[in-house]
Amino acid sequence: MAKIYIEGGRRLEGEIRVHGAKNSALPVLAATLLCRGVSVIHNCPPLLDVGASIRILEHLGCICQREGSTVIVDSTALTGMDIPDTLMREMRSSIVFLGAIAARCGQARLSFPGGCELGPRPIDLHLAALRQLGLTIEEDHGLLDCRVEGRLRGTSIHLSIPSVGATENILLAASTARGRTVIHNAAREPEISDLADFLNRAGACIRGAGSDVIEIDGVYDLHGAEHTVIPDRIIAATYMAAAAATGGDLLLRDVEVSHLTAVLDSFRTAGCRIEPGLHTLRITAPRRPHSVGTVRTMAYPGFPTDAQPPMLAMSTLADGPSVFVENIFENRFKYVDELARMGARVKVEGRVAVVEGVPALSGATVSATDLRGGAALVVAGLAASGVTEIDELRHIDRGYADLEESLRQVGANIKRE
Ligand code: EPZ
Repeated sequence: MAKIYIEGGRRLEGEIRVHGAKNSALPVLAATLLCRGVSVIHNCPPLLDVGASIRILEHLGCICQREGSTVIVDSTALTGMDIPDTLMREMRSSIVFLGAIAARCGQARLSFPGGCELGPRPIDLHLAALRQLGLTIEEDHGLLDCRVEGRLRGTSIHLSIPSVGATENILLAASTARGRTVIHNAAREPEISDLADFLNRAGACIRGAGSDVIEIDGVYDLHGAEHTVIPDRIIAATYMAAAAATGGDLLLRDVEVSHLTAVLDSFRTAGCRIEPGLHTLRITAPRRPHSVGTVRTMAYPGFPTDAQPPMLAMSTLADGPSVFVENIFENRFKYVDELARMGARVKVEGRVAVVEGVPALSGATVSATDLRGGAALVVAGLAASGVTEIDELRHIDRGYADLEESLRQVGANIKRE
């Protein structure tokens, strides 16, 4: 099993390019199913989850090609409407394909996505909304058997939680439904706006994406379109945490600064100087970060839950205590036990973690517990004195492409063996 080895304590300095957003590429690839023709998606990061999405598209009959970070999908003729259990288990966010498959094929069959390391990942909001759009969904022994006579029908949907995935599923299902759909309390994440941009380029008629009320006027069908995926704001936040943890000075390229406002506030509180440019951002950190105060994860534009682990890892070195309140997921502090092996002093009580800053961490042998928890261990390892060894890298590879290479370019002593 491959491991990452980091000889920490080196100040990061230099430039890093931020790749395309995983959480935008996945729904946009699902959306290509709706387009009768060829779609070209640029800035798709070479991640395990992108690979899984392409395998699902190919299983359904799409012809896919990868040219660097561009994925070309020809979904003119589909031959299937099911996602096999193996592929569902490989990536639980495959549930976002449900709306697209049902809208295009009139039926869909997939297994219930399992929970994940963050705790149960319910899909009740997805299913309730799709049923409101006219999809019949039978749940039988973990299998979702879905069908609709004719086309889905537009309607008004109120989400009790501004769920990112549920909002995406509704956008995908409603784009070619009959009539108007209005989503109230929609998720406002930049990835939602990016998906709506792609769909509108493909001929959809969506207004209000990025706000909490989105209107979709169904069209008869969609054609292929070309699109460039937005930069990954969580990758940017992770590299910023690495800079802040090592007293570093990084210039991030291909970032969308407007997607990072909540995160930037926390880094400024930690004593970092932030210099935003046009699609760039420079972060200059003090030798030792200050406390970030209290960070509460919220739906966008609040502090993103995915940035909580890297930010907490950085704050374990702060010259004062910090508090993190995880309001989105039940079990998003599992990685803290691994940080403790490196000398971090964090007390977790339910959804609250109290971090007592320590002057230094020491390298240790640790295991990635989940995607962003694994990133937190990399951030801590870059700052720790001595060697940190990280295994269970499949978690990290789901969301971070060329991580070691990027960090080596800015002075980190990091390798994978
Ligand atoms: C997306 O997950 C992201 N994944 C997550 O990123 C991210 O943490 C999350 O949004 C929040 O921003 C992708 O985009 C592939 P939600 P999603 O539906 O859509 C509850 C990463 O690290 N809920 O907004 O699953 C749910 O349990 C991943 O890249 C229901 O109760 O998140 C959670 O508590 C991790 N019922 C809250 O809503 C539902 O039907 C927000 O979940 C759906 C969600």
